[in-house]
Amino acid sequence: MRVRGELAESLRGSGLLYPKIPPIQKYPGLCNTERAPRDHAQPRIPKGRSRHIPPGHPGRIIRTKPPRGRIIQTWIHIVSLTLPERGEMTKQFEGKVALVTGAASGIGRASALAFAREGAKTVVADVLVEGGGETVWIIKESGGDALFVRTDVSKAAEVETLIQKIVETYGRLDYAHNNAGIAGADAPTADCTEENWDHTIAINLKGVWLCMKYEIPQMLKQGGGAIVNTASTAGLVGLEGSPAYCASKGGVIQLTRAAALDYAKAGIRVNAVCPGVIRTPMVERLVGTEAEAGLIAMEPIGRMGKPEEVAEAVVWLCSDAASFVTGNAMPVDGGLVAQ
Ligand SMILES: NC(=O)c1ccc[n+]([C@@H]2O[C@H](COP(=O)([O-])OP(=O)(O)OC[C@H]3O[C@@H](n4cnc5c(N)ncnc54)[C@H](O)[C@@H]3O)[C@@H](O)[C@H]2O)c1
Repeated sequence: MRVRGELAESLRGSGLLYPKIPPIQKYPGLCNTERAPRDHAQPRIPKGRSRHIPPGHPGRIIRTKPPRGRIIQTWIHIVSLTLPERGEMTKQFEGKVALVTGAASGIGRASALAFAREGAKTVVADVLVEGGGETVWIIKESGGDALFVRTDVSKAAEVETLIQKIVETYGRLDYAHNNAGIAGADAPTADCTEENWDHTIAINLKGVWLCMKYEIPQMLKQGGGAIVNTASTAGLVGLEGSPAYCASKGGVIQLTRAAALDYAKAGIRVNAVCPGVIRTPMVERLVGTEAEAGLIAMEPIGRMGKPEEVAEAVVWLCSDAASFVTGNAMPVDGGLVAQ
């Protein structure tokens, strides 16, 4: 994916762009171009010394006949430079339509970009018009097809309209990543307000159910589909000061399992991802504060996750490679719940 201009500048370093990956990382099995020049570098001739290279000296061998390994590595390097970007190589979702909710930022945006990279026409749904529009712009700039539909996932009528617009525009819906969510207010259980409880459950849990309620009938008409709901490790283990959030994410996991059983024979697979601590706007507010070290300490892997690392799991769960996987709540968490 290539993004140019001012947006590219503002996104640089945010992890949202697909960086121009040097061949060594892009095709790790092919060659090690990073080491090659150093390993086979000709020895420098110190100033003032004779330019004559004596027979048997490694410099002489390289000048007359480069080692076979070096020629092969050079060719592989040239060929790898002419290969298309990874995204252009694999278009496993060509002709398919994907919906991502909460795609104005963070995990949802990364997921929308990943679906688009795989060739899907991608529908971006969010309450944030500016961020949603930006996600669509990035996809279109990269040659993809995308549509933004402003949607509050906690409102049945808006979700119903969203699915209608998708079908009107693209004629089908193959994949859905029901990801929109909020952290809610931090407070211990007895101090959690009714308003915070209702609001968090309405978006995080009811919102996921409403999305599936309107996505599934369309998928049934087409004979199948794949759904991934964003839960959280906070749905698998408790998190202090977040009763409503934990309850909502635990609910998403159970809802995912129930829906998976309901539609297993109908060709619709329903799974969940359970992200650990992922560096997105939801967590960004704590970066630079004392809480940051605590967040990183929760992760056995020693760092926060990237939104793209969750997006790759979502794409895999939707892909044919995961054709026997349904009702699964997959941690993408740097080992957080393995402790
Ligand atoms: N960041 C983490 O560490 C983390 C960990 C576990 C789970 N999650 C979950 O991942 C999901 C994405 O979160 P994120 O970290 O990318 O945060 P984020 O704040 O960047 O993204 C959430 C998106 O959801 C949208 N949204 C909120 N309410 C909505 C509504 N009613 N209707 C439609 N869209 C709405 C927001 O506008 C935002 O764009 C959430 O469900 C969150 O609970 C995040």
